[in-house]
Amino acid sequence: MTRIAVLGRIPASGLEVLRQAGDVWAWDHDEHIPDDVRDEQLATADASVTLLTNKVDGAFLDAAPNLRVVANVAVGFNNVDVAACERRGVVVTNTPGVLADATADLAMALILMLTRRLGEGERLIRSGEPWAWGMFMMLGTGIQGRQLGIIGMGGIGEALAARAKAFGMEVVYHNRRPVAPEVAAHLDAERLELDVLLATSDVVSVNCPYNADTHHLIDAVALARMKSSAFLVNTARGPIVNEAALADALRSGLIAGAALDVFENEPQVHPGLLDLDNAVLVPHLGSATVETRGAMAELAARNVVEVLAGRPPLTPVAPPVNA
Ligand code: DGY
Repeated sequence: MTRIAVLGRIPASGLEVLRQAGDVWAWDHDEHIPDDVRDEQLATADASVTLLTNKVDGAFLDAAPNLRVVANVAVGFNNVDVAACERRGVVVTNTPGVLADATADLAMALILMLTRRLGEGERLIRSGEPWAWGMFMMLGTGIQGRQLGIIGMGGIGEALAARAKAFGMEVVYHNRRPVAPEVAAHLDAERLELDVLLATSDVVSVNCPYNADTHHLIDAVALARMKSSAFLVNTARGPIVNEAALADALRSGLIAGAALDVFENEPQVHPGLLDLDNAVLVPHLGSATVETRGAMAELAARNVVEVLAGRPPLTPVAPPVNA
């Protein structure tokens, strides 16, 4: 009997799809699966479904002699050693597309939180401190006519660009390579070199994949290139931003503010960020809607079904192109 090991909790609709393909064992707890339990399941598994918190490395693969597919329930797959999987003939899939809207919604919400100082306002009310409406109280920054610089124009970047334009922002982007002509045609956004994007944007949004090339892409030097009035938003992966350098830049006023949905050493957050009023910090919620998490689980499961049936996967991981 074909065996599928689901190594983290996923929505029931994903499990239903998987049951068409074989005997499903699923870890059903919020806590991380212990390594011995994982290895026991991997010993006889033909397929595994993983979350971004499951590290798929040599030890994982050593424990899984029959494995044919790793279906990661995330668009990011920096938790998977893709080269090691390839060497052992294990297909790796991710879940692009289905989470673009939810993640772009969150990025837009963070832009508004930052520029309108909503975190500060909320904290003020909850603190019980006296307050009263005032002409000059807690003034934010309007975004109409301001430039949004998107680093990494993939599906999420495109969805964010559409939202930002609806809010009246001008959009520019940086990709190492230009986007496909059909995307460029409807995007109406200029491609800039990274240094130029950083120096001219009012809001910089990080939307590229994390890999060796994008590690600390936003470091002290990059932050120093930004305008002192500019804001940074990261909904991609934490280690793309050097958090210590960001904390310094926010404290010294090198940039105006930053919103982070992802962190360098999740779930830890750099202590220098925690007491800053110009930092908005949320716990990796980009794709966290009921609908999106269901769609991600179903897509991952359909990838497993395809591979176990001897067909090509629907969404094999693609090499990073848009950093
Ligand atoms: C992803 O899919 O990579 C997100 O970070 C988690 O949903």
